[in-house]
Amino acid sequence: MAKVILLNGSPKAGGCTATALNEMVKTFHEEDVETELIHVGNKAVRGCISCGYCGKNGKCVFNDDLVNEVAVKFESADGLVIGSPVYYASPNGTILSFLDRLFYSTSFSKQMKVGAAVVSCRRGGNTASFDVLNKYFTISSMPVASSTYWNQVHGFTAEDVKKDLEGLQTMRNLARNMSFMMKAFVDAKEKYGLPAQEREAFTSFPDGK
Ligand SMILES: Cc1cc2nc3c(=O)[nH]c(=O)nc-3n(C[C@H](O)[C@H](O)[C@H](O)COP(=O)(O)O)c2cc1C
Repeated sequence: MAKVILLNGSPKAGGCTATALNEMVKTFHEEDVETELIHVGNKAVRGCISCGYCGKNGKCVFNDDLVNEVAVKFESADGLVIGSPVYYASPNGTILSFLDRLFYSTSFSKQMKVGAAVVSCRRGGNTASFDVLNKYFTISSMPVASSTYWNQVHGFTAEDVKKDLEGLQTMRNLARNMSFMMKAFVDAKEKYGLPAQEREAFTSFPDGK
């Protein structure tokens, strides 16, 4: 069975972002996909300090929150959904600190794990935030699942989001598309293996060094 991890970057366990993610969870279950929804936004998550510890030890130097635990779950998952409220036209600070450390500290291959970003805003800054989150996937060889609109809901409270019928429809269609992709990639990995990747080149400078 395919498995997907969903991260809620909002400080609120039952807020707008959670409402969008829970709509996806319901659909994933209809599609026989296993889910784990992890609440990140209520933790005190510090930012990356670029210390290089993870390069030598394969995990983040800080054990003060969920990063190292989620890393283990992410490694065995087929997909990752990142949900965030929009704060000043960006994803919120907690989820960005978390993602910087999660993606930078893990060396396992994320190739062909499916990614999806979901944002919740009251009024604006949604697509800018969506772009930021998608960049974690697209630097990691992760195909991005899409839907019938950009993956966003609107509201200030969970009740508002429940009235955003197109937003919820977008979440259901996203979960269906993502389920299809995860199942297809599980089969394809077995049939063809993962595509080869080159890693030798690391930035070219004019003198060739
Ligand atoms: C610090 C802060 C900044 C915000 N900035 C924006 C913004 O730039 N654009 C917007 O539409 N809503 C903004 N909001 C509102 C939230 O993004 C919006 O209500 C969101 O749906 C809340 O999701 P949640 O209930 O999952 O936390 C902001 C809220 C906070 C607390």
